[in-house]
Amino acid sequence: MKDKFYITTPIYYTNAKPHIGHAYTTIASDVLARANRLQKKETFFLTGTDEHGAKIEKKAIEEGKNPQEFVDGFAQIFQDLWKELNISNDGFIRTTSPAHKLAVQKVLQALYDNGSIYKGSYKGLYCVGCEQFKSENELVDGKCPDHNAAPEEMEEECYLMKMGKWQETLIGKIKSDEFRIQPERYKKEMLSFLESQKLEDVSISRKNLKWGIEIPFDSEHTTYVWLDALLNYLTGIGWDGESKEIPKMWPAEIQMLGKDILRVHATIWAAILLNLEIELPKSLFIHGHILSGGKKMSKTLGNVIGIDEMLEKSGVDGTRYLLLSGGTFGDDLDLTMERMTEKFNADLANGLGNLVSRVIKLSSQDNFQFPISNFQSIFNDKILNFINEFNFDGALEYINGLVKESNKFIEDNKPWELVKTDENKFKEVMKKLLLDLEIISQLLIPFMPETSEKIKLALETKKAEPLFQRIK
Ligand code: MSP
Repeated sequence: MKDKFYITTPIYYTNAKPHIGHAYTTIASDVLARANRLQKKETFFLTGTDEHGAKIEKKAIEEGKNPQEFVDGFAQIFQDLWKELNISNDGFIRTTSPAHKLAVQKVLQALYDNGSIYKGSYKGLYCVGCEQFKSENELVDGKCPDHNAAPEEMEEECYLMKMGKWQETLIGKIKSDEFRIQPERYKKEMLSFLESQKLEDVSISRKNLKWGIEIPFDSEHTTYVWLDALLNYLTGIGWDGESKEIPKMWPAEIQMLGKDILRVHATIWAAILLNLEIELPKSLFIHGHILSGGKKMSKTLGNVIGIDEMLEKSGVDGTRYLLLSGGTFGDDLDLTMERMTEKFNADLANGLGNLVSRVIKLSSQDNFQFPISNFQSIFNDKILNFINEFNFDGALEYINGLVKESNKFIEDNKPWELVKTDENKFKEVMKKLLLDLEIISQLLIPFMPETSEKIKLALETKKAEPLFQRIK
């Protein structure tokens, strides 16, 4: 089999509309998927929606809707947004789809049969926002720091999945990078967590929650939403939950995650797979959160940057560019609409947009004919190295550097004068400029696919529509 590349995003909760945080993960994954397709790897890019659980049930009830109707609406909104943002996902998994539900039940049965699940009870503090039990030391002033809310005391009969026996295995696999966690500091964080405390068995069912997948061996219980959700990474590529033949795209080369959900993936997800004797993913890549003006985005603070607002101002490729060029991928990213507007105007409207319109206009002068090459891939190693290292802002800075150089080359050589004075020199200058554009358009493919296409078309037809409108 030729080299393969399976990449996943987390599946998004369908309790609210998507925001730029969701778009950020998805766009980054899209760049990786596109770059790997360009390298001719057999690629599968999966995203989807996480539709069960207490949080969603509660919200649906508040809005007077039945949960299925409620999640149908948001699942559609996510799909529409990904389409608009030119996301090239090969699959979209919904956890309320019949095939997924059936597979989850099969898995539960298998785990029960092989002794990985047993009946017991669990008492703890449950944060509905996280859909997780929290230990005292994870709370700040008695509240979950991610949701700024006090978790509820909960005690109930439930089924639990054994975790403890995997502790050493996990430490070993993470240490050796067989189960790789990137960036390095998150690997360290997970190792110090696993080395400092015993892994507790996790509750994998809920007794008083209707909105979930029924446990096949006990109809009074529904499946814990994380167990249900995590299995999407396998059901989304067609696994039925019982076949010994795992779809060939598994294991995932990269599972992209925000830092808030690293621990669940490195413990519960890994334990599910180990209990099923299925290989672990090759790697988890952990990215930071988008902040707005240095603070977590929140409706109360009024600093939420809406995806609609961003799309309206900067367009699809402008949004893709601004989110990925705003800072080191992996770190938290502090954005403000002002800074993004400035960057849009400088790099895209004045930079790239201006370059394309000037070069195309000059090249359409009179009888000037320049045979451009036939767009063989000139996707160079340099840009691939950036992408393979998740250095998206580095890649875009590099491309932006080429744009600046090319614009400077125009200023220095004044082709609009050469065309009248020195035809040979003019041709030489234009040849270089057209080649620059061709290269830039190639390098942009994974980041700004539509812009890349437009530049290619402009080169072929010698006509260019303005690419970016300055934002006032
Ligand atoms: N449904 C779970 C994931 C299940 S995966 C088996 C979930 N959903 S979520 O919608 O709350 O978040 C999905 C992803 O979006 C997470 O990786 C999270 O880190 C990311 N983001 C949510 N807010 C974010 C920002 N403000 N900035 C960047 N990413 C953020 O968790």
